[in-house]
Amino acid sequence: MLLRFSGSSGPIRAAALAAMLFGLGAVPAAAADAEHGEMLAKRWCASCHIVSPDQTHGADNVPTFATIAKIPDFDAARIAKFLMDPHPKMPDMQLGRSEAADLGAYIASLGK
Ligand code: HEC
Repeated sequence: MLLRFSGSSGPIRAAALAAMLFGLGAVPAAAADAEHGEMLAKRWCASCHIVSPDQTHGADNVPTFATIAKIPDFDAARIAKFLMDPHPKMPDMQLGRSEAADLGAYIASLGK
């Protein structure tokens, strides 16, 4: 799958708009969607993690998503499960199951 990292490209903007119009929770649970995961990551995770190659600044001592994706036993499903519970220093973001899966798919795509 071809990923765009350029930020404000058309399809991603359209997806963001659709998500805004329909509400994130109302997006039907389809197969994990890495592009949607990228959008969620930029909204919820970028304050601490460097979530994409075009992000230059994150919090200290927080692993970048690219680093996480390259952990030898990395597994998108395990990450999705991990995200259903907030991690210690992370606010409880109340992610839905499909949002967690999308984030897992997005992080996985960074390791390729
Ligand atoms: C308030 C800061 C903060 C935010 C926001 C945050 N994280 Fe984290 N995250 C951390 C810290 C600190 C660690 C490393 C220490 C730890 O595991 O508690 C971490 C670790 C992780 C790990 C590694 C887990 C492992 O198995 O090693 C993953 C995956 C992760 N975060 C995903 C996310 C995702 C996805 C989001 C957004 C939905 C997010 N984080 C938002 C602070 C944050």
